[in-house]
Amino acid sequence: MVNTVLITGAAGWLGGLLATALHNDPLTPDVHLILADIVEPKAPAGSKAVLIKADLSDKAQVDALFTTKFGVPDTIYCLHGIMSRGSEDNFELGVKINIDSVRSLLESTRALAKPSIKFIFTSSLAVYGGPLPPVVTPSTIATPEGAYGMGKLTSELMVNEYTRRGWIDGRIIRLPTIVVRPGVPSNATSAFISGIIREPLKGLEALCPIGDSYESPELSLPSWLASPETTIKNFVIAKHVPAEKFLKHTRVVCLPGFTATVRDELEALLKVAGPEVLKLVKFKDDPINRRIVSSWPPAFDNTYPLSLGFVVDEGGMEPIVRQFQKDVAAGIA
Ligand SMILES: NC(=O)c1ccc[n+]([C@@H]2O[C@H](COP(=O)([O-])OP(=O)(O)OC[C@H]3O[C@@H](n4cnc5c(N)ncnc54)[C@H](O)[C@@H]3O)[C@@H](O)[C@H]2O)c1
Repeated sequence: MVNTVLITGAAGWLGGLLATALHNDPLTPDVHLILADIVEPKAPAGSKAVLIKADLSDKAQVDALFTTKFGVPDTIYCLHGIMSRGSEDNFELGVKINIDSVRSLLESTRALAKPSIKFIFTSSLAVYGGPLPPVVTPSTIATPEGAYGMGKLTSELMVNEYTRRGWIDGRIIRLPTIVVRPGVPSNATSAFISGIIREPLKGLEALCPIGDSYESPELSLPSWLASPETTIKNFVIAKHVPAEKFLKHTRVVCLPGFTATVRDELEALLKVAGPEVLKLVKFKDDPINRRIVSSWPPAFDNTYPLSLGFVVDEGGMEPIVRQFQKDVAAGIA
């Protein structure tokens, strides 16, 4: 049976990886991909895909996603968005894309009157802020301290409400920070968490906005992380989880992750690549960045997502740094 999947934000980092993973998913051997982004997306080699360049802040362009030769999708991955620092610095743009365009997509989906459509929304741990328990659980209340988290939480509430009303089969996955992001630095507040590994492994200097020397106690700032490989596995799993397995009152799932401090990252870099590479990390304090990243929770209880079948990285930062070093050597980072 053909499985038709729409991915918005398909030209982005995770969107591109997801398209390839869905194309290779043995559980759904015949996949039709509808790939949409404001930037022309690319099709995975050998896949059946339609590529749509669309600005999803325009409702007519959102509606057009459902009238391609592949027809109505069974699953929608809503990945497009303006990243954390981008929506903090440009409030209007963040609201337009992270809230208004998601609502348009939900409305277009609702108009199809096909409640079995799985609507998978990528949210973030940036929905949390304020005083938090040492370990976040499914009952921890989300009080964001930035425009990005506010936008994600607003859209989450709508995905939950549309699901409660039986208009869609919503699934909300709150992602840890994903390391190591390849390519050029993004405008995410968390970009340095990848940058301090990525740039040095490519022989380039990296700027760390937290702490002003390798000895600084501030390097103990912890983050909640996951590798891209594990995250993409979890994206695919998100569509296979039977609807009845989710908690009755919410479709929010915090994807599994692990805690690592900035120092843990630097130590993994030292171990994998040596002291000369570590020296490429420079420090320049950025108070806005520090405030936002410090407000995000550093540890979650993985029990619920693991019970749904999601998977977690084993071994902390070191295998992730080693994998990225291999990707650099292979020219794919
Ligand atoms: N990468 C992470 O660490 C991380 C962590 C938490 C949550 N997320 C979420 O996961 C999703 C994917 O993340 P990513 O790292 O691939 O981001 P990305 O920035 O690489 O991709 C986002 C894509 O959205 C597209 N987009 C922006 N505005 C658009 C518009 N008006 N119309 C159509 N497309 C538009 C961009 O062109 C881009 O290709 C995002 O929703 C992000 O908020 C990512």
